[in-house]
Amino acid sequence: MRIKLSDGRDLPIEMHKVRIVQQTTLPPAEQRLRAITEAGYNTFLLRSRDIFIDMLTDSGTNAMSDNQLAAMMVSDDAYAGGESFYKLADAVREVLGFEFTLPCHQGRAAEHLLAKVFVKPGDQVLMNYHFTTTKAHFELAGGTVHEIYGPDALKTDSTNPFKGNLDLQKLKDLIAKFGAAKISFVRMEATTNLIGGQPFSLENLKAVRAIAAANGIPVVLDASLISENAYFIKRREKAYQQTSVADITREMMGQADILYMSGRKSASVRGGLIATNIRKHFDALRPWLPVYEGFLTYGGMSSKEIEAMAVGIREMVDEAVASSSADLIEYFVNEMVKREIPAVTPPGGLAGHVDAMRFLPHVPQAQYTAGAMTAAIYLVSGARPMERGTISMDRDAKGNDVLSDLELSRLAVPRRVYSVSHIDYVVDRLAWLHKNRKLVKGLRFIEEPPVLRFFMGRLEPLENWGAKLVEAFKADFGPEV
Ligand SMILES: Cc1ncc(COP(=O)(O)O)c(C=O)c1O
Repeated sequence: MRIKLSDGRDLPIEMHKVRIVQQTTLPPAEQRLRAITEAGYNTFLLRSRDIFIDMLTDSGTNAMSDNQLAAMMVSDDAYAGGESFYKLADAVREVLGFEFTLPCHQGRAAEHLLAKVFVKPGDQVLMNYHFTTTKAHFELAGGTVHEIYGPDALKTDSTNPFKGNLDLQKLKDLIAKFGAAKISFVRMEATTNLIGGQPFSLENLKAVRAIAAANGIPVVLDASLISENAYFIKRREKAYQQTSVADITREMMGQADILYMSGRKSASVRGGLIATNIRKHFDALRPWLPVYEGFLTYGGMSSKEIEAMAVGIREMVDEAVASSSADLIEYFVNEMVKREIPAVTPPGGLAGHVDAMRFLPHVPQAQYTAGAMTAAIYLVSGARPMERGTISMDRDAKGNDVLSDLELSRLAVPRRVYSVSHIDYVVDRLAWLHKNRKLVKGLRFIEEPPVLRFFMGRLEPLENWGAKLVEAFKADFGPEV
């Protein structure tokens, strides 16, 4: 929640008490240099022991509530017909309004099932923006992904409150070009992860639905960050300022033929699901669940996580929960902007993002600007960001790099885990890095997997810049931090 202080400032205030803590340490810069070198300058390959503030992702890393933990204690481990599943199905029905629920082990498993059933070779899949696993699954099934975002979506210093909106004219044009029968579905991602966690408006979602429905094309909602998108609608869309996050969420769901989600984000667990009210879609998806995930009432999730997900879905539409990371991210982004750090604006739903091309204009995209920036942030702070740029794109069929639309370092803010002082520390180190940015150079691959290379690829710094950056850092701060 945001609270107004007497000097006029907005403070992101925690609407919870911290009752269990996990000790963390700040490895000194020399240790960070050793760690990132061993990790091939890829922050995915770092070990937790070498990380001070883990901002890699908000996926499965959120603090769970006391009620979620309590629910885990009463889970039903039955292979088939477990009561835990029925609690999840009740939560989906009551909070999201869907009759049929298919649990699966995480978001990409839902994407795999959707690809299996809906995407045939030569099909077109339309969406406001892709996510890495989404694109991989739909392309592996033989589909082509089209991102039909509006004119501001890729502007990193925008004030457009709904950069996740889908461009309605482009939608009509693509339907006319390919014909509705060739379009698997239109996918709307609630807060577009790869372009800064940017939301779409309910007005836009309704318009997308109307066009899709008129052409008999299903709308699929990726609801992984649904509560944040609903919270932004409440904050930014005039017509909904007096509507609760819970009611906005229900209204959004009314526009979707199929919902899928990674439960690891808004719902603060480790799981996923697909839900629908349309029997024929449910019947088409259901046979594949036991093949790829597990029986219908667990779908690859542990029964404990199913219980926690049932509670998490009910809790995520509470405004205090829906706002918990969004408000801290807004503070984070505003503090970065004050220090002239090129943060993506407006603030989004899962992270503070830094535009690496504006931060490191001397590092060409072919040398992985965001990858270099991400490793550099770790080196100077012990905070672990994630690269969201060209390294996150796989090569094309000819083996050429596909330059990403944006080169971002993503500093995720897991829900209810970090505090204002952690954010202030990270902003301070980013400001130092910005002053010393000329020391940072590019990267080159030394080991490169063929698919989703960003997870396990290894790189090395050009001109050994990592060691030089650490020398400069130690000269200013000493060897201890
Ligand atoms: C928008 C979106 N969709 C799908 C996924 C994939 O979910 P998972 O990581 O649970 O497989 C993610 C994960 O970050 C995501 O952000």
